[in-house]
Amino acid sequence: MKRKIITIDGPAGAGKTTISRLLAGRLGYMYVDTGALYRAVALAAASSNCVEGGDLLADLLKEITLEFRNGQSGPRLFMNGEDVSERIRTQEITMLASRLSARPVVRRYLLGIQRDMGKDGGVILEGRDMGTVVFPHADVKFYLNAAPETRAFRRYKELSEEGVKITLEEVAADMKKRDENDSTRSLSPLKPAEDAILIDSSEIDIENVIERMMQYI
Ligand code: DC
Repeated sequence: MKRKIITIDGPAGAGKTTISRLLAGRLGYMYVDTGALYRAVALAAASSNCVEGGDLLADLLKEITLEFRNGQSGPRLFMNGEDVSERIRTQEITMLASRLSARPVVRRYLLGIQRDMGKDGGVILEGRDMGTVVFPHADVKFYLNAAPETRAFRRYKELSEEGVKITLEEVAADMKKRDENDSTRSLSPLKPAEDAILIDSSEIDIENVIERMMQYI
């Protein structure tokens, strides 16, 4: 059977990561969390103090190598040989990744990397513009959404379990800001591809989402 390119786009907290991981396991496919790449760029920019400068950021990107390697509990992201999988998950990096993802130099840089990671098929790519921009000819495109309250609560639960001290209200406010950033930027804004299959995960559980996706695939 042809090893397909499958894209899953949608806002934060819609369940993309969990679902992509499980689906990849079911299909024996690779799974690419493209948000992690934007987060790694944000981490590099914050660490080298070049968040604002356009040229500085462009120079920095020339120095970065990004690579997913398989770990025991899923893929780990290595930047210049260092495992940054945990460091990219802080609230500060989350917000900065959303801000920097509007910058053309960042999107251009990551476009080539993402296309390279997915080109051979047998892959699930998860992000915001996978079906619209990065792989417009993907074999199957999903757009996963959920009600804002559901998404904020999921994210809050996740962060609390990781021991992060944050209130539900703070998570909801950050998420609203990020939704706004991600869907109103002029370059590759978050939106469903015209041929994407829309799934709302507010009312259905993960297993059902997976079953529905498997039928389409
Ligand atoms: O999926 P995530 O929360 O890890 O993504 C972090 C940020 O990266 C998100 O707020 C917007 C940006 N992003 C993007 O612009 N395009 C993608 N394909 C993936 C993420």
